[in-house]
Amino acid sequence: MEWVNDTREGTEQVYLLLRRAGTGKSTIAHTIAGRLGGLGRRGSSFCCSTAFADRANCLFSTVAKDLADLNDDFKEALWKHVGHKSALLFNDGPAEQVKHLLLEPSCSMRLVTNVLILIVGLDEIGKPSVSKAFLDILSKQLKQLPPQVRVLLTARPEKDIYRAFDGAESVHIRELATVERTFKRSCGGSSSSLWGTSVMKNATGS
Ligand SMILES: Nc1ncnc2c1ncn2[C@@H]1O[C@H](COP(=O)(O)OP(=O)(O)OP(=O)(O)O)[C@@H](O)[C@H]1O
Ligand SMILES: [Mg+2]
Repeated sequence: MEWVNDTREGTEQVYLLLRRAGTGKSTIAHTIAGRLGGLGRRGSSFCCSTAFADRANCLFSTVAKDLADLNDDFKEALWKHVGHKSALLFNDGPAEQVKHLLLEPSCSMRLVTNVLILIVGLDEIGKPSVSKAFLDILSKQLKQLPPQVRVLLTARPEKDIYRAFDGAESVHIRELATVERTFKRSCGGSSSSLWGTSVMKNATGS
């Protein structure tokens, strides 16, 4: 995947994929994650869902657990920062959680290759009262992760997503409609399965 593999300075830490419902965002994201998983480079996958009450509260603990499984430096640092306080953290707000479970321990990570954290369906992160805090963190704070940790986010193009990510630093925003238009223009075709394949090929470098 070009962006995940790109080690040049200044490459955006976060890639936000936007497109309407049912147009293949999750399929693309899971395909990329599956391929990176086979290479030992999938940091974490998390699917947001309003079908489960309070699911967003598990976001940072799930990512932290997955990164600890992947990387011993992170595991040791996580234990140092959180240790026996993990149950307390679960009751903390998202700002405390991201700090103690993700940002602080990640400073100790030594990575030889870039790894990917995947967070799918940001539009389903929770009720408006909950989502604002999470979207603020995801749009503003992930740039503090080590440069080798990349984060792929997917969402439907909704107002609160645009508002949160508007002008965000170190976030590459890609609306798939743009890719589709480009593809149609250059090939004169209009197959959704073709543009999906094209995006996936570019993304996974296959
Ligand atoms: N490139 C493709 N060609 C044909 N069908 C596809 C392609 N990509 C996805 N699909 C199918 O389209 C359906 C919707 O895909 P998917 O769930 O990935 O969409 P989504 O954009 O994540 O939707 P939502 O916004 O509701 O989460 C699925 O049944 C999937 O199998
Ligand atoms: Mg989806």
